[in-house]
Amino acid sequence: ARRMASVIDPASGLPVLELGAGTGVITKAILERGIKPQQLVSVEYSKDFYERLTRAFPGVDFRLGDAFALEEVLAERRGEQFDCVISAVPLLSFPMEQRVGLLED
Ligand SMILES: C[S@@+](CC[C@H](N)C(=O)[O-])C[C@H]1O[C@@H](n2cnc3c(N)ncnc32)[C@H](O)[C@@H]1O
Repeated sequence: ARRMASVIDPASGLPVLELGAGTGVITKAILERGIKPQQLVSVEYSKDFYERLTRAFPGVDFRLGDAFALEEVLAERRGEQFDCVISAVPLLSFPMEQRVGLLED
């Protein structure tokens, strides 16, 4: 998790986008990297995980939804620039077309 969060440049001042937050171990590492909860947007499609995450990390902008539908799930934040995207979505479980679509998004 720390290795994944190490790609963030906290000095950029930009928000970070996390995909597939799950248990929150990477979320925690992102925050420990110096990103304020308000600067983190995190997408998770399991309602159970989402509910646990919102309790565990107050202030993070968690979005219950599909990382393959970023336009929809980011809604009003979809035009925003992010410092980086940190993804734990198991890409290899999805068809090639969907994987390429997510990377292009
Ligand atoms: C391999 S787990 C990693 C979870 C978390 N980062 C961790 O370390 O515990 C993948 C996570 O991505 C979520 N996920 C899978 N497909 C997704 C999708 N299309 N959109 C959003 N989240 C998704 C799963 O619900 C799961 O929480």
